[in-house]
Formats: sequence, C-alpha cells, structure tokens
Amino acid sequence: MSAKNHPSDSSLPRRDFLKFTGLAALAGTGLGLPEEAPATDFEFRHHWPDRLLWKMVRRAFVLERDTVYMNIGTTGSMPRPVLAAYARYNRLVAADPWDMGGEWGPWPYMSGLVETVAPQFGADAHELVLTRNTTDGMCTVLGGLNLQPGDEILTTHHEHVAALSPLAVLAQRQGVTVRQLEIPVFPDSEDEYVDVFRNAVSPATRLIVFSHITYKTGAMLPAQRICQEVAIPNGIPTLIDGAHTVGMVDLDFHAIDCDFYAGSGHKWQCGPGATGILYVRDNMTRLQDFWPDRDPPFFAINSSLYPYRRFFGWQTVLQYVGHDNYPAKRALVDACRMWEAIGRERIERRVQSLSALCKEAIRDTFGAQATLFSPELPGTTSGLTAFNPFSDLTDGTTLTTFRDRLREEYGYIIRTTDFHVALADPEVHALRISTHLFHDEDDVLGLVEAMWDLFQDMR
Ligand SMILES: Cc1ncc(COP(=O)(O)O)c(C=O)c1O
Repeated sequence: MSAKNHPSDSSLPRRDFLKFTGLAALAGTGLGLPEEAPATDFEFRHHWPDRLLWKMVRRAFVLERDTVYMNIGTTGSMPRPVLAAYARYNRLVAADPWDMGGEWGPWPYMSGLVETVAPQFGADAHELVLTRNTTDGMCTVLGGLNLQPGDEILTTHHEHVAALSPLAVLAQRQGVTVRQLEIPVFPDSEDEYVDVFRNAVSPATRLIVFSHITYKTGAMLPAQRICQEVAIPNGIPTLIDGAHTVGMVDLDFHAIDCDFYAGSGHKWQCGPGATGILYVRDNMTRLQDFWPDRDPPFFAINSSLYPYRRFFGWQTVLQYVGHDNYPAKRALVDACRMWEAIGRERIERRVQSLSALCKEAIRDTFGAQATLFSPELPGTTSGLTAFNPFSDLTDGTTLTTFRDRLREEYGYIIRTTDFHVALADPEVHALRISTHLFHDEDDVLGLVEAMWDLFQDMR
C-alpha cells in the first residue's frame, strides 16, 4: 500500500486559485521566477467552506506526492508563495547587497516586518525579535540572564536540548541549580501541571522554563496559568519553549503573560529554515522589578548594540546580531501573512481536529494493547500524537525499525521520541505523528491503517 495521492483538480475560478497559491507570480514563466514578481498576495475568500479551503491550502504545498510528510514537529515545508517570494528576495539581495532594492525599509531593516507580524502573536512591535530558531531564542535568554551561584531554575523532565544544553552550561559555569520537575504524562486535570511548579517554588527560584507543547508526547501545558498563578505572584520570570506552537496555535503573548517566549518559524509556521521568533515582554521592565538585586539583569553578548541598549530598546538590540538573513526573515513574515489570510484560529481548529481523529483512530484500531502517551484532556492536546503499539515500551530498536519500514514500505514519514514517564522509571519510546493544515482525513486514516498493517507483520 502506498500513501494516497493529493487531488489535482480545482473547482475554484482560476484567478482566485492563482492568487491564493501565489502562482499568479509564476504563471507563464516556465521554469522559474520572473525577474519582477509582485509582492506576495494572499487574497483569500473567508466565506470558503472548510472542504474547499483545506483542499486549496493543500495544493499550495510542494511536498512530494508519493509520501505523506508527518514530521512537522522537526521541520515544516514552505508553501509555494513563500518559496517564490523567498527566491525573489534572495535574488534582490544578491543583485543589490547594499540597498536590497530598498524593499526592507531603513536600517535596521526589520522594523516593518516586525510591525506586521507582532500583532499576529498578541505582541507589540518592540517585543518581537526575528531569530534563527527556538534554540537561538532559548540560548539568547538563558545566556543573557544575570544568574549567579545558588540560584535555582525550575524546568520539567520533558524538555528539549534547546533548553537543556544552555541550562547545563549555567549549572556548570555559574553554579546554578537546575531542577527537572516530573510533569504528569497521563494527567487527570490541568491543575496537575500547575501544581508541579507551585509545589516546587522556593526563595532560591529565579526562573521557570518549560515547553508550551512538549516534543516528547505533544502535551500542551497551561502556560497562562503557570505564569499567572505561580510565576508572577512569586516574582519569578518565565521562559517558554514554543517550538511547536508558532503556526499551530493561535497565540497571544500578552494574555499568556510570560517574560520570554522562543519559537520556531520553520516548523508549524512553514517559513524558511533557520527562522524563528523571540518574544521579550515590554523591554524587560518586569524583569527589573523581579530582580532588583541584579544590575544589569540581562546581557546580550552577541549583539552589536548592547552598549547602546538604553537608547535602542531590547528589540533592536536583540535583533541586531551581526549581519542578518534578510530574505529568510521576510519570507517568514510572508508565511505568517498567509496564516493570517487563512485564519490562525481556523488553522488551530483544523490541526486539533485532525489530531483528535488520529488519536481516536489509533485507539479504535489498536485497542487497549497500545499506549497513547499524548493526553486527550481538553486544553492539553496538540497536533502531535505519541504512541507505542508494542507491549515492551522500552524496546527502541523495534520502534525505530517500525518507523523506517513505515516510510520505506508505506510512504508515511513520522519520527520517534524517548522519555521517562516517571523519573525513576526506565526510558520508554514512542512514535510521534504531526498532523498539519496540509493533511486531510484520508492521510490520517491511511497512516493508522498502514501502521496497523505493519504492526501485524512485526508483532
Ligand atoms: C520542544 C523543542 N524545543 C526546541 C526545538 C529546537 O527547535 P529549532 O530547530 O527551531 O531550534 C525543538 C525541535 O524539535 C523542540 O521540539
């Protein structure tokens, strides 16, 4: 059995279709890009019914048709209009490295882009930095905070190396204590996540770091509650790893009320590689209130503008890290504009609905013998689904073979993760599936059918 083909015809008027997919810029140009393509145009009909909408969205992607790519959690895929625009921006910069065609505005060239994109995430323009990726944002914050020996950082036992690596440096170099708290894998209520942090806070706690959606199981943590009920009342700043939310979830940083939030542009947001965003709340004024004993509370060692931070403000300081990849950042903003045109809330609903279908189909097909690690409690679900069909959850070799055969023999591309359910327990392994806006119900059901078929062969 192979992955199903994508549909190839459209009931949309040609003009609408070309506009939506950005193909208008390419029409009639044969191989490639026109010398002078217009700015990317995402004119979109909000009255389009869901079926038509998702069909057209699907056609905006150039993903290979003989496989189904379901590992957006690692990286996404640029849609056609973004690809086309990115190529044009690269060409512009190559042709005119000094002025870049005058299309990025005045120095430091990112202001217009940030003004476009910040409101989409519930942020002000002076709070949003266009970074390289989540790792970049996490390292910028963890490397910048003025932490000292004896300070304590609370985090979870399901963090990515993007957090763990800079945290390990802080422990070794600065003498900071990093406590990896055990978060529940099978929670009965959202309160359990909040209580993990509430019960661990001490006078030494200087920072709380956690993933909004963990990459291990796809659990969505109640970020706003952790900030508002635990961190803020205790005067503790928060740094959230949002690698999996940007482009999947309709985010509002002001509502979450965190101090720092690092996310990826290249994963669920489907921007170019090495793009991301970093939210820095209100020029770190609250950080100064929380940390009156640290002067300065924050350093930016890789910024060319750090000595002038009071003059420029933190957005400009953190944005100006040597020379930038201006085409990539601009193409990321185009991807964000496309998401806005579709509707971020509508995208989130679609991702959640495909993910719910995936979980339901796994339960119906595999029954009680499979372990579903992703929580299904409302508010804790995401577009990631982690499960293991085999009875020996510690057998990573079999699961790796399963993942590879699923790709080679059935055409479905997913990944595996490993983690401890309880800290004291042995490590277990899971298959991790990403469902996104370019998938449909047939992709999800086809995947589950393929996994069941393969499981019969391997059990
Ligand atoms: C939770 C989490 N944080 C950070 C990262 C790193 O993301 P990036 O490649 O954007 O730095 C990943 C990547 O998979 C992740 O899953």
